[in-house]
Amino acid sequence: GGHVVITIDGPAGTGKSTAARKLAQLLGFSFLDTGAMYRAIAWGCLQQGMDLTRHDLVTNFARQADLQIEDQTIRLNGQDVTQAIRLPQVTLVASQVAAIEGVREQMVALQRRAAEGQNIVTEGRDQGTIVFPEAPCKFFLTASPLERAKRREAQLRSSGQTVPLEEILEQQQLRDERDENRTIAPLRPAIDATIVDTTSTSLEEVIDYLQRVVITKI
Ligand code: C5P
Repeated sequence: GGHVVITIDGPAGTGKSTAARKLAQLLGFSFLDTGAMYRAIAWGCLQQGMDLTRHDLVTNFARQADLQIEDQTIRLNGQDVTQAIRLPQVTLVASQVAAIEGVREQMVALQRRAAEGQNIVTEGRDQGTIVFPEAPCKFFLTASPLERAKRREAQLRSSGQTVPLEEILEQQQLRDERDENRTIAPLRPAIDATIVDTTSTSLEEVIDYLQRVVITKI
């Protein structure tokens, strides 16, 4: 038989990444964090001081980039960028480069290649809608904006960064708007996605629920 793709989409701060990673572990599936790919391209462009309005340059960079993704480590052109791509300044630029058509084409091709012949949990914004529309099991995670910002604040704090909640809320709104309103692959649930509101649910409960839904679908 073929392989199984499980997609988990949604905005940041919904627990998507952790839930997806854990679900993959429990199922013995491989895991793909597609946001990290856009972040790595953004980091590379920042590093080169590239003019981000030059979509041709950014696209070329993405086409020529050597992206290596292992479970926990992401390398861009041989350099370990795992930590660097999590910095707040990279986060906003990631949503900028992610709106560029040529960049998305390249990332989508890499994502489909990464899934070839594998059971995989893949996490992002467009995995259920665009990249794997045939996936048998799709989730879309949501949470209230305030709850998401609080989670992000805690996450940043645990990595030694103190950012005021208001600033996080502001950047979150800007990023959501960009992701939801772009013309290519806007952030939205696939028509056949299971929507999971995680606002007042623990991570354990979310994972448990995802697992129970998976069993009915694959
Ligand atoms: O999930 P994460 O916060 O790491 O994603 C960073 C940015 O990458 C998002 O704000 C979004 O603009 C972009 N992204 C995307 N499509 C994906 C994954 C991420 O456009 N599949």
